[in-house]
This record gives sequence, C-alpha cells and structure tokens, in this order.
Amino acid sequence: MFWDRISGVYDAVENIYNGKTNRRTTDYVASLMAKDDKVLECACGTGMFSVKIAPCVNSLTATDFAEGMLKRTRKKTAKFDNVIVESGDITGLKYEDNSFDKVVAANVIHLLDDPKKAIDELKRVVKPGGVIIIPTYIHFDKSVAAEAFNKAGAGFKRHFNEDTYREFFKEMGIDNANFKVCEGRMACDVAVFGNV
Ligand SMILES: C[S@@+](CC[C@H](N)C(=O)[O-])C[C@H]1O[C@@H](n2cnc3c(N)ncnc32)[C@H](O)[C@@H]1O
Repeated sequence: MFWDRISGVYDAVENIYNGKTNRRTTDYVASLMAKDDKVLECACGTGMFSVKIAPCVNSLTATDFAEGMLKRTRKKTAKFDNVIVESGDITGLKYEDNSFDKVVAANVIHLLDDPKKAIDELKRVVKPGGVIIIPTYIHFDKSVAAEAFNKAGAGFKRHFNEDTYREFFKEMGIDNANFKVCEGRMACDVAVFGNV
C-alpha cells in the first residue's frame, strides 16, 4: 500500500517542507483537549498529532489502516502509558456508539472515496456533546510536496481551499462547524464541530 511504502520518509517531508504549519496545527488541536478526555484519532499516520494529544488527555486510541505508519506511531508514543495504537479503517470503526469525548481525523478526508461514511462513523462513536476535529491541508494542489505524494500514488480525491472546505461540511449536513486556518507553506484548515 502507498502509505506503507512512504512511511519511512513521511516525517522528513512533513518536517522539512511544512514544519511551521504542522507545529501550529498540532499545537492548536492539542489546545482543544481536556485532561479527562477519552480521545480517538483516526488516520494517525506516523503519530504527528498523537504525540501532542497524548500528554493533554486521559487516554488516546490512535488508529490507521497502514501498518507501516502505525509502526512509527507505536515507537513515538511508547513513552506514554495512556496511548493504544491499533489498526482501523475510518470508514468502518470497530468502536461502540458514544465511546469518545473527542475524535480527531487529520489530513485524511481528502483521500476518501466516501467521506460521508467516515464522518457518519466519527459522529457515531463520539459521545453526545462530544467534539469532532478534522484538520485538512488546503491549497495542496499548488504544493510541490503534495503533488509528488499524489504522483507517487496517494490518490487525492479532493483539493480544498477555505471556501470549498466550508461548503464540503455543509454538504455533509454539518452547519455548526468552526474553522481555524493554520498558516505555513501548505496551510491546514481545522474544522471543529460538536456532535449535536
Ligand atoms: C496524509 S497522511 C496523514 C497522517 C496524519 N494524520 C498526519 O496528519 O500527519 C494520511 C493517512 O491516512 C491514512 N488513511 C487513508 N485512508 C484511510 C482509511 N480509510 N482508514 C484509516 N486510515 C486511512 C493513511 O494510511 C495515512 O496514514
């Protein structure tokens, strides 16, 4: 699978090419966490968000469907005793309804054939009154690194900008989302909405 093949270089590309955006985005997402939170992270990749979330919460379950990426997350989060790292497909989660206080799915929604299925799953597993956080790179159609990833087989299904990202959530039936753009070479737009 593409994500297994590139797992060894993912962090280097992200840090060198887009470190500023990633630091701002992960810090922002970490700031939304609370000490008592039970958190699910879908598509955790190599754990870029996981290592920032883990110290701020009660427990973190970090999931991805690519074993190569999970291996890196396991290594990075080994120092935390509140993190479980396991395989999981965002479009079919194995968790019971109303299981988590917060759910994070970063930089994955643009890769999915059926993003509605994923969002329905996130809504199902988050508790009533819980919060769903979906950060996604924007303007990556203009990014050299993203273009290289796509050519190598990432298979992007959508290219968002600020406007189309907001429209996308409306199309998904979500009217209560707030957004924060974390700037950098390739900006990341963070959608945050409550499960009402
Ligand atoms: C661009 S990376 C983002 C990783 C991490 N969230 C980050 O922001 O650094 C996309 C990740 O989504 C994962 N992914 C893609 N489709 C998925 C699916 N259907 N279920 C779970 N993970 C998926 C890939 O394996 C990859 O690790």
